[in-house]
Amino acid sequence: MKKCWVIYNGSLTSDKFRDQAELLKDAAERAGINATLKKNYEVLMALHEELGGRPDFVVFLDKDILLATYLKNAGIPVFNDPEVIETCDNKAKQYIQLAKDKIAMPETIIAPKVYPKFTIEKSGYYEMVLEKLGLPMIIKEGHGSFGMKVYLIETEKEFFAKVDELRGVDYVFQEFIETSRGRDIRVNIVGGEIVAAMHRSSETDFRANITNGGVASVIELTPAQKELAIRAAEAVGAEFAGVDLLFGENEEPLVCEVNAAAHIRNIYNVTGINVADKMIEYIVGKLA
Ligand SMILES: Nc1ncnc2c1ncn2[C@@H]1O[C@H](COP(=O)(O)OP(=O)(O)O)[C@@H](O)[C@H]1O
Ligand SMILES: [Mg+2]
Repeated sequence: MKKCWVIYNGSLTSDKFRDQAELLKDAAERAGINATLKKNYEVLMALHEELGGRPDFVVFLDKDILLATYLKNAGIPVFNDPEVIETCDNKAKQYIQLAKDKIAMPETIIAPKVYPKFTIEKSGYYEMVLEKLGLPMIIKEGHGSFGMKVYLIETEKEFFAKVDELRGVDYVFQEFIETSRGRDIRVNIVGGEIVAAMHRSSETDFRANITNGGVASVIELTPAQKELAIRAAEAVGAEFAGVDLLFGENEEPLVCEVNAAAHIRNIYNVTGINVADKMIEYIVGKLA
């Protein structure tokens, strides 16, 4: 019997991380695999010792990239690949990757590195960004989920306060897609194929995230939406991806972001599709 570990972050107290891991564990067990849930700190990264109880593969739901790399180096197949997790975990990095493949997305400017104790406020740099993107615009931190680190900037005062606050942090400036205010699409992709999609909309916020008050419903994707979502996942190398799509001016799709460890509970509730089963099926097929 094959053996797998499902790794999630042990320091996060929200139940949804545990729940996501359990969905994967149950799917693995349905497929006849011996699955063990592990918090990231339950795998000891002692580099001078051999890793004990090696599994045949790891489903990696955490962003502990060092642990993912450690396991990969021990010769264990890790899904997603640690490099993909790392790319997706930093929105700035993933947008660079998406742009390389000419993926349609909002106009995006990667903020330069500014050390926390210094400033480039007098350099004219920020005025140039304001001129290129205009207001309102989006400022988005590199690391963030559930819409928590995405800001709608409406005034110059807010703009300068935010860039000052974000010294030392990776972030991007992005065109605000007004036609997508409070609505987007989540597409789940497994091994280059779309397995589920939902529309999300919010009456109260420009962000459509469900955790942030968005309401989800089933959606039939257009061919353009399907194609773009698949290309976006491919551009970052993600075998498992939750791609967020925005609605452009003429309803044309634009990529908002690619998640490497997308939560799958909401899409299960809305569509009845258990993405975890597809993920396990894909891994089993790949390792066969
Ligand atoms: N450029 C944008 N224009 C309009 N809405 C956006 C834009 N970027 C993000 N959003 C909204 O904010 C939400 C959160 O942004 P996202 O980049 O997906 O970050 P997170 O990782 O926090 O989900 C999106 O689901 C979308 O509704
Ligand atoms: Mg998102």
